Amino acid sequence: MSPAELSADARILWRLLRGQPRTGSHAERLEGFYAPQADRYDIFRARLLHGRGDMIRALEIPSGARVVELGCGTGSNLVELARTRPLETLASVELVDLCPPLLEVARRRTAGLANVSVIGADATQWRPAQPVDRVFLSYSLTMMPDWRAVLDNAHAMLVPGGRLGIVDFHLPGTGNRFVNALWQHWFAHDGVHLSKQHLPALQSLFTAPQLEQRHAAVPYLPGLRAPYYWFVGSKPR
Ligand SMILES: C[S@@+](CC[C@H](N)C(=O)[O-])C[C@H]1O[C@@H](n2cnc3c(N)ncnc32)[C@H](O)[C@@H]1O
Repeated sequence: MSPAELSADARILWRLLRGQPRTGSHAERLEGFYAPQADRYDIFRARLLHGRGDMIRALEIPSGARVVELGCGTGSNLVELARTRPLETLASVELVDLCPPLLEVARRRTAGLANVSVIGADATQWRPAQPVDRVFLSYSLTMMPDWRAVLDNAHAMLVPGGRLGIVDFHLPGTGNRFVNALWQHWFAHDGVHLSKQHLPALQSLFTAPQLEQRHAAVPYLPGLRAPYYWFVGSKPR
């Protein structure tokens, strides 16, 4: 890694060590947390947020589909999406987030893509103009305090038979209590709230589930592996 890259990593690590601001609205805390990281976000998170491509492939997005990502950040998942099929074969891709500095990066990335829109809105409330075929959330459910409202909203915006995909950190049911408590505490400092309730809620709302539970490396924490999962399920017809 070059000295410039190391110094950019140091700025991100400093923000992570300071944690998410404790005051202000949810949107203000996200902005305070992400504004200093926005330019370097993708490179650092590529080493932290695993399984995004696996989840997007399992969505099996058909040609002509309408697709929504809730909590899109910088829109970096478009790269994975484009690996599964050419973006221009999709009817629409709507990228939704609440954090202006990250949305600015997403807007730069998607400039000139006629069927992709970047939308500043709260995932608990925003709805597309018509029901969509695929909705996914990538490492954003754990950052959404009212995550049940987000899941209900995602369910409501899908066509019957449409698919929801989630990839995120969590607390595995079989995990060691001490290790789970360590991860819960460590992530909560940065506004990421690991839960044992996300998977059961997903399994009660969506059918035909595909689920992988894994552990992955964390930058600058040698030997430690954080628990994450990806889930894809269908809205009952
Ligand atoms: C860890 S980032 C993940 C970004 C992106 N999905 C990725 O995989 O790189 C979590 C994102 O969720 C967004 N977020 C948190 N709460 C939100 C809400 N209520 N509505 C919309 N976006 C939200 C944050 O602004 C942030 O961009």
